[in-house]
Amino acid sequence: MIQERIKNSLRDVHDFPKPGIVFKDITPILKDQKLCSEIVDEFVERLKHLEFDAIAGIESRGFLFGLMLANKLNKPFIPIRKAGKLPYKTIQQSYDLEYGSATIEIHADAFQEGQKILIHDDLLATGGTVEATSLLIQKMKGQIAGFSFLISLNFLNGEQKLNKFSKNNISLASFT
Ligand code: PRP
Ligand code: MG
Repeated sequence: MIQERIKNSLRDVHDFPKPGIVFKDITPILKDQKLCSEIVDEFVERLKHLEFDAIAGIESRGFLFGLMLANKLNKPFIPIRKAGKLPYKTIQQSYDLEYGSATIEIHADAFQEGQKILIHDDLLATGGTVEATSLLIQKMKGQIAGFSFLISLNFLNGEQKLNKFSKNNISLASFT
């Protein structure tokens, strides 16, 4: 099963980026091109009944599979970036992280009003990042079609923050 293969390929790094955090390092997965293709195929399979117009991937690790997936599905890819990185006119949203706080941005012309956006990231932890992204999409009058993650840390209850935006929430590997 792909869930087991993802879990077996992840590397737990203790006390990164600060003491007490167990960081889920996805770089061993990225070195395995066969697994990467299978992950994209699994996302495609799990998303095949969902209607959406574009994929918004969250900097930086949400760009990795987000762009591959958008390309495979022949959809536009929209980067959600940390503040100060996007060159054109932006809309902003601040949020709290598992460790620290941050502001994210999207280009003001990233999509058309009313379009359905799938939000993608590598990992769902507390849900703060995707909640901020959802608020950003709503500020621009977009609809949230759903969420896709490679990994979910279910014990942090991030999903509870997402239900109000969409119940379409898929994760290829979950930790309970
Ligand atoms: C990590 C991860 C998610 C987010 C999850 O990103 O890639 O984007 O945190 O946390 P949350 O659900 O508690 O908000 P990080 O901000 O570390 O940056 P990176 O992707 O650039 O490494
Ligand atoms: Mg991230």
